[in-house]
Amino acid sequence: MYHHIKKLMFTVRVGESDPRFGNMLLEQFGGANGELAAAMQYSIQGINCDDPACKDLLMDIGTEELSHLEVVGTLARMHLKPMKKLNIDTAAEDPLIAIAGGGGVSLCNSMGNAWTADYLKITGELDVDLRSNIAAEARAKIVYERLINLCDDRGTKEALQFLMTREITHLKAFMQALDSVTNDKLVIVQIPPTPRIVDQFYNTSTGEGDEGAEDTTGPWNNCDDIEVINSPALSEFQVTSATPKAGKTKLNGNGNGRSRKPKSRTKQ
Ligand SMILES: [Fe+2]
Repeated sequence: MYHHIKKLMFTVRVGESDPRFGNMLLEQFGGANGELAAAMQYSIQGINCDDPACKDLLMDIGTEELSHLEVVGTLARMHLKPMKKLNIDTAAEDPLIAIAGGGGVSLCNSMGNAWTADYLKITGELDVDLRSNIAAEARAKIVYERLINLCDDRGTKEALQFLMTREITHLKAFMQALDSVTNDKLVIVQIPPTPRIVDQFYNTSTGEGDEGAEDTTGPWNNCDDIEVINSPALSEFQVTSATPKAGKTKLNGNGNGRSRKPKSRTKQ
């Protein structure tokens, strides 16, 4: 059950309204990485969750995100409010806010696109959902950081700093929850990946670019348990079977493309 208390989670103060900035704030109100998306994603995942501890976590954070929605919505409203006094200049600048919205917030992003449940990542598999949530918090964090960098108003910056900080708190909690539900992060649900294929790295982008782009190495293609297949299409490399049983993987091709390490130039 939900209960509304007539206080904001963070006290919002705006020195000078800036409708243009208010419009940008809508990205965190009704946008893809905004607070409504976070609130709905975690709450619906919580309804689906059979793990009591993680269900509690998802409902806690999902509900907190609703409080964030209220904070960022109030903040955006304060910045947009001058649009309520209609004149041809303000109305022409943003007809959606000024004429359709009367200087208020609606569940749209900064470009006026309506919020959609398509933003939500809900799989019904706890560890997969937790990974989505970690990514969602990281995206929300960077959007808040960019908004902070575009803003001069002290009170607005403080509210955004609070909201940005809570994203990191949630990011950490979801990472800890993921650690608590899985010992091996490469094990996802039940069907195991096919041996050998799973340890192959296909070097499909090769050569040097005009801007200096080149083949590089990293842990993903430069360690003992990884087999690098260089230019698989050019060497007629083909996988003909992927039966998930040890020793059953068949590989076709002339083999010229296979090597333990990339043959091309490396950058450390
Ligand atoms: Fe949030």
